[in-house]
Amino acid sequence: MIEKINKLIEEVEQFKAENIEQLEKFRIKILGSKGSLKELFQDFKTVGAETKKEVGQAINTLKVKAEEKVAFYKNHFENNLSSSSYNHIDLTLPSGNTPVGSMHPISLIRNEIADIFGRIGYVIAEGPEIEDDWHNFTALNFPPNHPARDMQDTFFIEKEIALRTHTSSVQVRIMETTPPPIRIIMPGRVYRNEAISARAHCFFHQVEGLYIAEKVSFADLKQTLLYFAKEMFGENTNIRLRPSYFPFTEPSAEMDVSCPFCKGSGCNICKGSGWVEILGCGMVDPNVLENCNINSDQYSGFAFGMGIERITMLKYQINDLRLFSENDIRFLEQFKSVLL
Ligand code: PHE
Repeated sequence: MIEKINKLIEEVEQFKAENIEQLEKFRIKILGSKGSLKELFQDFKTVGAETKKEVGQAINTLKVKAEEKVAFYKNHFENNLSSSSYNHIDLTLPSGNTPVGSMHPISLIRNEIADIFGRIGYVIAEGPEIEDDWHNFTALNFPPNHPARDMQDTFFIEKEIALRTHTSSVQVRIMETTPPPIRIIMPGRVYRNEAISARAHCFFHQVEGLYIAEKVSFADLKQTLLYFAKEMFGENTNIRLRPSYFPFTEPSAEMDVSCPFCKGSGCNICKGSGWVEILGCGMVDPNVLENCNINSDQYSGFAFGMGIERITMLKYQINDLRLFSENDIRFLEQFKSVLL
């Protein structure tokens, strides 16, 4: 009898169930009301006193092992660990939380600027970040060795090749290849050799705009920028233009918007003045048009350029430029809810 039991123990140990049906068959065979164990318990009554202990223990081992096996596979199938247990997946259960990313604030504002100008017919133009001297400087009326080139501390790669210091280089590329009218905005990354601080970085992002057609005037420029300022910072925003200098525009100006925080009454963001500077602009210098083979007697145009970081800092009250490139998730996560 002991041999019979040991055989059954071995059988139980080796048993593997591939599906619930096989497991149920096994359970009935060993543990069922007409199963092997039942039979053994019956026979046990007739076992002589001298082997009773040994046989009793063996039957018990068989019972425990069989029960463990059944419990193991039952759990296995119920927890979807087997392909044959699809009918146990509850498709109505809510899923776990999937982490979602967010748009970078610079991308959000770049898209918003592109959208605002897109509504009045501007299309996006792009160009290379590694530029030659012609497109970044010379065609834009920076004479060789002119101190104006020092306005923008340049990262040179070779003698006449540099990382672009502004996206004005894209203006040149488009004017060289496209007959007017031209109405483009040029978003992109630019590089300047500046010490990194809360207010300056060695790379940042610009959006420049260019409009070339017949009889374009400074009034057109002013109206376009007023439209932009109102769309970006709100209907009640005012602008003011202050005379400035850029080699590629004449006349040139810098534009301030009424402080979006204190609405002009003076706060620490606008340093009490009620105004914050957001962009440079001007009428395209006829020399630049001629450099790009555009007849300056027939055509005129305006250009403007702004730093996306600056607008973003104003829009979201961010006080440190370095936050934009540190990839700190605690900073980036704050822009999750912004849908653009
Ligand atoms: N390119 C200038 C800059 O980088 C901005 C600008 C663009 C000014 C177009 C006037 C006209 O500062």
